[in-house]
Amino acid sequence: MAIKTVGVVGCGLMGSGIAQVAAQAGYKTIVREVEQKFLDKGLARINKFLSDGVEKGKVAPEARDTTLANLQGTTSFEDFNDCDIVVEAIIENIDEKGGAYRALEKVVRPETIFCSNTSSLCITELAANTTRPDKFAGLHFFNPVPLMKLVEVIRGLTTSEATYRAVFEFAQSLGKEPITAPDKPGFIVNRLLVPYLLDAIRSYENGLGTIEDIDKGMKLGTGYPMGPFTLLDFVGLDTTYYIANIMFEEYRDAAYAPPPLLKRMVLAGWLGRKSGHGFYKY
Ligand code: CAA
Repeated sequence: MAIKTVGVVGCGLMGSGIAQVAAQAGYKTIVREVEQKFLDKGLARINKFLSDGVEKGKVAPEARDTTLANLQGTTSFEDFNDCDIVVEAIIENIDEKGGAYRALEKVVRPETIFCSNTSSLCITELAANTTRPDKFAGLHFFNPVPLMKLVEVIRGLTTSEATYRAVFEFAQSLGKEPITAPDKPGFIVNRLLVPYLLDAIRSYENGLGTIEDIDKGMKLGTGYPMGPFTLLDFVGLDTTYYIANIMFEEYRDAAYAPPPLLKRMVLAGWLGRKSGHGFYKY
């Protein structure tokens, strides 16, 4: 099936990035938020990214204009009727996601493919919440979506070969480098990244060094673009805590157990960059 129209459910940090790369790749793109004010915020984020890109000489002015022309914001599911593929990027809650799939299924064609950008929920379980479990796959992007080349394509137990191939090729058409990941908590990247981040917190609690020195060590000593604490603040401590809990629940391995400090910081509302306070202050 040729993909011409892309739907994106959710225009938060990830959804707006996904809508941007789809529109940038030339797809007619419809992105939905629950309320106009959230939609305006997401569309403004896309606008700013593209305009900054033009200023930096990374985005041609015509490319910015074409991208914005390809993009349509909505607060209704009705506008998704023409979508060949829909990428859902809403809150990590199975009931909320299921509600979105049911609303979509009332308007889309039977052959429309559904993808979830979930970083923690089970793809097979999400697929089971639809009437098209064979046309459902995981499509996990990385933050910041327009800059990170990687996308994980996840096959659930029920994902058909044709759907998997179509989603993989769709990711390539967005200019991304897809990899195939198993439907297990953390997929490939978080499965390795989260224990590393948790270990950095545990090591700090055990007196390994200052936050600044541990960050500097990993950044300058191993060439990581960000040290673990800068990255934790960037990803969000609540997000990391949430993913760690799901991984620990499934694997029952101490490597995934959230350290006490992480839990307390989340409880205190110190969520990283987004709250202005995490391991650093912003
Ligand atoms: N438009 C186009 N290009 C832009 C741009 C824009 N608006 N803004 C920046 N760029 C380009 C820059 O020109 C630059 O390009 P070159 O390398 O060709 O010079 C590149 O993007 C990097 O931009 P900056 O120099 O401004 O920023 P930086 O070098 O400080 O990098 C970063 C920023 C890409 C975020 C980098 O710090 C990084 O990679 N950090 C790690 C991020 C990461 O690990 N993300 C994954 C988190 S885990 C996750 O998301 C999954 C999950 O489930 C939790």
